[in-house]
Amino acid sequence: MKKRKTKLVWLTAAVIAAALALCACSGQGEAADEKKAAQKEAPVSGDTEVDYMVLVNFENPLPDDWLDRVKFHAGINSVGDDVFTETGAHDAYLKLKDDVEKELSDRKVTLELDSAYRSEAAQQKIVDEFTEKYGEEYVKKYVAAPGYSEHHTGLALDLYFIVGDKTVYENEDLVQYPEIWEVIHKRLPEYGFILRYPEGREDITGANYEPWHIRYVGSPETAKDITEKGLTLEEYLADKK
Ligand code: DAL
Ligand code: ZN
Repeated sequence: MKKRKTKLVWLTAAVIAAALALCACSGQGEAADEKKAAQKEAPVSGDTEVDYMVLVNFENPLPDDWLDRVKFHAGINSVGDDVFTETGAHDAYLKLKDDVEKELSDRKVTLELDSAYRSEAAQQKIVDEFTEKYGEEYVKKYVAAPGYSEHHTGLALDLYFIVGDKTVYENEDLVQYPEIWEVIHKRLPEYGFILRYPEGREDITGANYEPWHIRYVGSPETAKDITEKGLTLEEYLADKK
């Protein structure tokens, strides 16, 4: 009888332990699945022409049918994040990266993509995280509301870099390297990119200076035209009307 009771106690303990393990495991699995879902949220195909001059800013939301029209390149960056970039923008980025890395080879600089396409949920996450980290005033100047971020297009790219063996990733660290940004910014138009939030144009773009945020406009001709005229995208499009 005693033996049977002991056996029963062991059996009960084993069942409870197994149930607890299953619980913990499925909890972890859910979190992992959620993260994966957020990262994999970008669509991967589209079948019509992309409007590379689309204006998405603090006042103009992403067009409703945008995601049906673009194709995305799916990549992974040096810190292990998935990065989805509109395919034309991605091809151009690879050429820019190659060129910049050649010019900065003596400093062993590697150019990386922090983020390109972001879903509205991902943008909301950034709003929440940055509000906690930097406060509301910072967020108003640096982060668009979900639905109003150019990142929803897949045409806006946030860059970071590795210098030697040092990964320079956070905004406050990135601004410490003006000489690297100078080399990058100089080359943007040649590959169809513009610096989207230039210094001193905050009143027009609505966003603070962001050396890392570049925007693909579809061709070197257009990018050169905008840059040589010293215009923001807002001004360039207004002039075209
Ligand atoms: N940092 C830019 C403004 C964005 O959040 O889209
Ligand atoms: Zn950005």
